Formats: sequence, C-alpha cells, structure tokens
Amino acid sequence: MRNNGFKEENMNIGILGNGVIGNALAEVFHKLGHPVQIGVKSLKEEFEKKHYIEYVEGKDITEDNEIIVIAVPGNKVEKAITGIKNPEGKIFIDLTNPIGEDFILTRGRYTSNGEVIQEILKDSHIVKTLNTLGVEKLIDPCINEKRLTMMIAGNNKIANKKVEELILEMGFDPMIVGDIHFSRYLEPLAMIWIEMVRKQGKSFENGLIWIR
Ligand SMILES: NC(=O)c1ccc[n+]([C@@H]2O[C@H](COP(=O)([O-])OP(=O)(O)OC[C@H]3O[C@@H](n4cnc5c(N)ncnc54)[C@H](OP(=O)(O)O)[C@@H]3O)[C@@H](O)[C@H]2O)c1
Repeated sequence: MRNNGFKEENMNIGILGNGVIGNALAEVFHKLGHPVQIGVKSLKEEFEKKHYIEYVEGKDITEDNEIIVIAVPGNKVEKAITGIKNPEGKIFIDLTNPIGEDFILTRGRYTSNGEVIQEILKDSHIVKTLNTLGVEKLIDPCINEKRLTMMIAGNNKIANKKVEELILEMGFDPMIVGDIHFSRYLEPLAMIWIEMVRKQGKSFENGLIWIR
C-alpha cells in the first residue's frame, strides 16, 4: 500500500498499459499530485522505469487504485482486462479506440469498446472519455487559453462525477453526455482527429469546444 503523504483529496490512479498514453497520463497525474501505478504485462520484462511511477503486474492494477485507466491497444482490450483481479466496484476510464491496421475503425454502430468492457467487467463502472484527442492535446488541453471540451459517458452517476472532477483538474471542460452506449458515438469521433492529424498531417493544435 502506498503512502506518499499526498493530500487526502488526491487519489491513487492506476494505468493499464506502459505505452505512449499510459506514460503521458502518468506524468500529468503525478504533476497533479496523484500517486500513479502502471500495470505492465510482466514485471520480469526489462523496461525503462520512471521514479514517480510504481510498476505492478497488470492483473494487480485494481489493488491500490480508486480509478484505473485502460490504456492498451483498442484491439487488445478484452485480453488485457480479462485477468484483472477484484475489479468489482472500481472505476475504469476507457480511452481506447477500436482501431486496426492503417487507423481503420474496427468496431462501431451497434457496439463499442466501452460497452464491451462494461459487459466483461459487469460489476465495475466503465467511463468512456479521453479517447477523442491525441496525446499532444490530452496533456495540454487548451487552445488560445480556452479549455477543450472532453466528453464523458458512463452508467454510474457517482463514477461519472468522479471522472468529471479529474478531467476538470486536467484542464479540460468536461461534459457528461450519457450512459456507456454513448461510447459508440465517441469512438468514431476520435477518427476525425486521427484522420486529420495522423493521416493528413494537420497541426495537432485543434480540438472541440462544445458551447452550451
Ligand atoms: N496515442 C494517442 O495519441 C492516443 C490518444 C487517445 C487514445 N488513445 C488510445 O489509447 C490506447 C493506447 O494507445 P497508445 O498510443 O498508448 O499505444 P501503445 O503506445 O502501443 O501502448 C499500449 C501499451 O499497452 C500494453 N499492453 C498490451 N497488452 C497489454 C496487457 N494485456 N496488459 C498490460 N499492458 C498491455 C503494450 O505493451 P506491448 O507493447 O508490450 O504490447 C503497450 O505498452 C489505444 O487504445 C489508443 O486508441 C491513444
């Protein structure tokens, strides 16, 4: 159990996946004062370690954490979450996008990664968010001093609220849009940014502001 002397309102956050997004968010959460763990496939493998991150086996990522961010490739989600111990009652942020080769969306219309994860982890609270922008704007969510809107979808009001607070703390304008079935709209929305920035090479200095 970690006791890093943080303020009480700081919560332990776990991140499943030691990749681009996992590491970028770990740094953001650390700077905000939240103790961070990253769940890796195996602790026996060699990898570069950062001093402010505690590393655990992926299956143990729920142990000490209030919120767990699923940051594995979108087509490996089912496998990655299946072995997780004691997921019941935990909040999972799902920022994955079901993207295959050449940035093609592989799931949608009638379902989504968010909904599939909620079906597998049926006693956990899945909150879809942080999937619609690239890493550059996830860590720096303002343009011309205006906060970009980050949509949030999930079935549990308390979990949504908790995630909303974190998203606000990260610098976004959070907007809760509905239950987890909204994931099937949020995942294709990511494709606009992906197509424009990753495929067409446009500047990553763009994002959505939803006026309401
Ligand atoms: N990159 C972005 O700008 C961005 C923005 C928004 C959302 N997303 C979404 O975020 C997710 C992660 O993207 P990324 O760019 O961070 O990908 P990435 O750099 O490839 O990182 C994914 C990480 O997950 C690990 N992983 C795979 N299976 C695992 C398992 N069973 N247990 C634990 N870890 C496992 C991978 O390990 P190995 O390499 O050893 O397989 C890798 O370290 C994707 O779903 C993507 O759509 C990405």
